Amino acid sequence: ESTLGAAAAQSGRYFGVAIAANRLSDSTYASIAGREFNSVTAENEMKIDATEPNRGQFNFTNADRVYNWAVQNGKEVRGHTLAWHSQQPGWMQNLSGSSLRQAMIDHINGVMSHYKGKIAQWDVVNEAFADGSSGARRDSNLQRTGNDWIEVAFRTARAADPSAKLCYNDYNVENWTWAKTQAMYNMVKDFKSRGVPIDCVGFQSHFNSGSPYNSNFRTTLQQFAALGVDVAITELDIQGASPTTYAAVVNDCLAVSRCLGVTVWGVRDMDSWRSGDTPLLFNNDGSKKQAYTAVLNAL
Ligand code: XIL
Repeated sequence: ESTLGAAAAQSGRYFGVAIAANRLSDSTYASIAGREFNSVTAENEMKIDATEPNRGQFNFTNADRVYNWAVQNGKEVRGHTLAWHSQQPGWMQNLSGSSLRQAMIDHINGVMSHYKGKIAQWDVVNEAFADGSSGARRDSNLQRTGNDWIEVAFRTARAADPSAKLCYNDYNVENWTWAKTQAMYNMVKDFKSRGVPIDCVGFQSHFNSGSPYNSNFRTTLQQFAALGVDVAITELDIQGASPTTYAAVVNDCLAVSRCLGVTVWGVRDMDSWRSGDTPLLFNNDGSKKQAYTAVLNAL
């Protein structure tokens, strides 16, 4: 196959990319994105601050720019993200307790109803666990509304759009030996045993010297799949873009039948949130990096 999306489709998977609405007018960017990928995640446009800038007033202008571009170009869409401690609008940052809990529920309902039946996977909850060795939940205004906030978010999401796969998404959960990974595993296991509606787990996979790729990532994917959820690599970027590491990540996904696909977090290095790390598959002039060829050959 000659594109990443077509190559991934050979095994029933997708190869996706994070898209920024304001870059779609860049013809180099749009032509690479249109050609190579068959799944799209909005890099920022479906987040809480973008979609509900004032309480109860939803704005889908930029989210729809990304969504419509994706659909017009034949791509499926991953929704990102409905409940998160970061990129909250000011009004939400200032809420707590039962009013924040209600605002979270209302937000999930507002965004999911706008896209009802149109989103393949939603990242319902993002980054709820703490880094380090504690295995604890991350302290946040949402966490302080009560430990059940995550399951309430998932139950709300299931009712709002029963056709979307509902994912929990996090970073530094790729290494099986890490406490954060085990904490997330225990949560998913508990949710499955109690019938909390969760369909998938997203592994962001922002690999760098502080949190490097480890070959036990495949074990992690297998262990979660064995709980009865799909898995996905949702925000892949690799500091330095080692071709062998990129190929290893792709091979880990291909080794797990419940791995739905891989999404890279941007098109060219200059489009990356960590552009100094040159972590992506395309050079700034639009040419393919060695990592691109390694991924294409692995798929
Ligand atoms: C990042 C975007 O890439 C940046 O443009 C933005 O300034 C901050 O957020 N984990 C996530 C993503 O789930 O939403 C983040 O995206 C990167 C880390």
